[in-house]
Amino acid sequence: MEKVKTEFILHWVWSIVFGLLVVTGLALLGPKYGWVLNYNLGVADYIHRTMAVTFTVLTFIEIMLEIKRLLKSKYQREPWLVVGKSGFALVTFIASVLLIISGILLWVCVEDNHSLLALAAIVHEMVTFAMIIGITWHIYDKSYTLIMGGNPK
Ligand code: HEM
Ligand code: HEM
Repeated sequence: MEKVKTEFILHWVWSIVFGLLVVTGLALLGPKYGWVLNYNLGVADYIHRTMAVTFTVLTFIEIMLEIKRLLKSKYQREPWLVVGKSGFALVTFIASVLLIISGILLWVCVEDNHSLLALAAIVHEMVTFAMIIGITWHIYDKSYTLIMGGNPK
């Protein structure tokens, strides 16, 4: 049996967590998108915060793996790592960092700093919409793996 790579498992766990954050995040955006979770805002908030912590830990692990790989001077890219120096991996890296920073601000600035809260909300929301477009393209681009169950070329 072929050895399953850590990066492969991480890609799938990380993308499922990402998906859950998108769905619960959209529900939290307000009445316009609340229907995605049948307006169960309490549940959405609970799942969003639990998954946000998981997401932050997973992203940290991914970044550490990429740094370790770069320090070993491996010039060939690891195809399943979701953070990297170019292509969609760079897009997800930047998006993840922005989502984590603005997410932490949304979490801690609720009472006091309203202008910072507004800025964090705009960044959090815009990056989410940009990533929905990005992910749609990515799934279309890699759909051959789902159909044929093949490894990336
Ligand atoms: C894939 C990553 C993520 C996506 C797509 C996402 C998406 C969203 C969206 C669309 C909202 C609603 C924003 C608004 O009401 O203006 C939201 C709210 C929020 N997000 Fe995220 N988010 C992500 C990751 C995170 C992370 C990593 C954290 C924390 C470290 C976080 C913390 C929060 C908090 C505290 C709220 C406000 C919840 C509330 O209204 O009670 N999010 N998120
Ligand atoms: C059904 C859903 C998905 C499929 C079929 C899929 C498929 C794949 C495949 C086959 C690769 C290997 C890369 C290669 O061939 O070069 C890959 C890499 C990657 N995936 Fe996914 N993926 C899915 C969901 C996601 C999601 C939700 C995200 C995050 C937003 C994501 C982010 C990435 C990133 C950043 C890479 C590295 C790309 C690169 O180095 O250019 N994937 N994916």
